[in-house]
Amino acid sequence: MTNINSDSTIGLTRSVQGLRARVSSWRDAGQKVALIPTMGALHEGHLSLVRAAKEFADRTVTSIFVNPRQFAPHEDLETYPRNEQQDIDLLSEIGCDLAYVPTPDQIYPEGYQTAITVEHVAQGLCGGSRPVFFGGIATVVCKLLNQCQPDIAVFGEKDFQQLLVIKRMVRDLDMQVEIVGAPIKREDDGLAMSSRNRYLSEAERKIAGRLNQIMREASKSMAKGDAVDDTLKKAKADLLEAGFNNIDYLEVRHSEDLKPLGPEPLSDVDLLYARLFAASMLGKTRLIDNMKIDQ
Ligand code: PAF
Repeated sequence: MTNINSDSTIGLTRSVQGLRARVSSWRDAGQKVALIPTMGALHEGHLSLVRAAKEFADRTVTSIFVNPRQFAPHEDLETYPRNEQQDIDLLSEIGCDLAYVPTPDQIYPEGYQTAITVEHVAQGLCGGSRPVFFGGIATVVCKLLNQCQPDIAVFGEKDFQQLLVIKRMVRDLDMQVEIVGAPIKREDDGLAMSSRNRYLSEAERKIAGRLNQIMREASKSMAKGDAVDDTLKKAKADLLEAGFNNIDYLEVRHSEDLKPLGPEPLSDVDLLYARLFAASMLGKTRLIDNMKIDQ
């Protein structure tokens, strides 16, 4: 383990052994540990997860690992943004205690052959269009949790289905960690922060905020009693008109088990749990967003 910055106290380790040594020393001192798993290319959304973690724990570990198992062969594994030194500097500035940047063999050693499958909650939405995605995520998050053994782990609600998949896995496998969801961080025009936003051209960036705005209009309309079916049809037409080239999904689901809701107007009980989920292509960039349905 080395201190990578003379003016910072953040540690850096690339091995499970280094991670465990640091976490054990904190535990021996009676300190509570939080893990924030990331794939790097950190932005304000990630930093807000670290800040949230600091409210629950004495020590924070942020992992940075671009996990090949959650990318399909045609997806952006090769071009996924990587900027390790900048990530570590940002983490250092906000007082994260340790960056865990494992070498690939620390996660998938030679001969590795185990995978985690989470069933229903991983199906549909992003699981429908990205069949390998949640298996890869569950597997890597299971490994990261086992390696670090934190008291809590924090994930952003932007990937709401991912959060539910991880909560389900932790419950089903009796893993001793509390999973905490943190609110979505947005740009001024409503665009949910994402490492992939940097793929957007200037012209696309101007359109991108419309996703959230159109979703908010749809949410308000369903909250005041308009039918789900009609509202989503209109929202899809609005997205295409705004310049999105393809809508992967735009659906209302129950926020606990992702059961589809609609097509009729939502009941008062539905409205307690209803969440709007969207994924849409803008040029070559896939944007996702979700929100509770209310005024
Ligand atoms: O949300 C992400 O960045 C990734 O899916 C995660 C949880 C770090 C697993 O690779």
